[in-house]
Amino acid sequence: MDDTTQKAEGGSPAALVALTGVNKHFGDLHVLKDIDLSVRRGEVVVVIGPSGSGKSTLCRAINRLETIDSGTIELDGHQLPEEGKALARLRADVGMVFQSFNLFAHKTILENVTLGPIKVKGMKSAEAKELAMSLLERVGIESQAGKMPAQLSGGQQQRVAIARALAMQPKVMLFDEPTSALDPEMINEVLDVMVGLAKDGMTMIVVTHEMGFARKAADRVVFMADGQIVEEAEPEEFFTNPRSERAQEFLSKILTH
Ligand SMILES: Nc1ncnc2c1ncn2[C@@H]1O[C@H](COP(=O)(O)OP(=O)(O)O)[C@@H](O)[C@H]1O
Ligand SMILES: [Mg+2]
Repeated sequence: MDDTTQKAEGGSPAALVALTGVNKHFGDLHVLKDIDLSVRRGEVVVVIGPSGSGKSTLCRAINRLETIDSGTIELDGHQLPEEGKALARLRADVGMVFQSFNLFAHKTILENVTLGPIKVKGMKSAEAKELAMSLLERVGIESQAGKMPAQLSGGQQQRVAIARALAMQPKVMLFDEPTSALDPEMINEVLDVMVGLAKDGMTMIVVTHEMGFARKAADRVVFMADGQIVEEAEPEEFFTNPRSERAQEFLSKILTH
């Protein structure tokens, strides 16, 4: 029996995110091939693999920014809705942080974080502000609340993007290469925030090649190649003793550059 059919105590499903037999094509290109992946509440999963292997498409499918051709994706026991209000609610449950921070350039840092709770969740402005300030403090940016995004460094902007996602009080956070657009000296300040989130018990799916993060924070590494999950293991096991030739080859490349 797999995780998706087990029920945890209290009747909530054991898997917070469950993909079963998920397939996705872009024209003739088969980008997700029979993906089965379940992520338990509080689990941190790092997804790693060569460029073009389908990692971003996987994240986007979980947030339903992409449709899928077959299979099912369940979030907290419910299938992803097709559209409408239910889809908006689901999106609020899935926080997403991209490589490019995508902050609203003409709004202050504080407004960037309060906008979602006010517009989507109908939160009162004062309450949203309080929540936003506490989240900005959590990511170490509270002193920048009144500034515009362009006045912040890339690392700071990415931390704001994390605060903005957290402001929707998501059940799961997806990170798609959150540090790959950053200057090297800013990578750690973002990873540190993510490690903190992981320690606080956030359920996270993180596409990253930062092995330090994986070792420190991940419960599991999922290796993707050519649209398939080729191998899954605990970080230490995966990095020191990859089983598949694909993973061995990939790791030898990222370890030597
Ligand atoms: N909107 C799209 N239309 C057509 N092909 C796409 C689209 N998005 C991604 N692809 C292709 O799908 C494959 C997987 O892409 P992606 O999920 O971005 O991989 P990764 O994030 O692992 O680099 C790649 O070959 C990519 O070129
Ligand atoms: Mg990608």
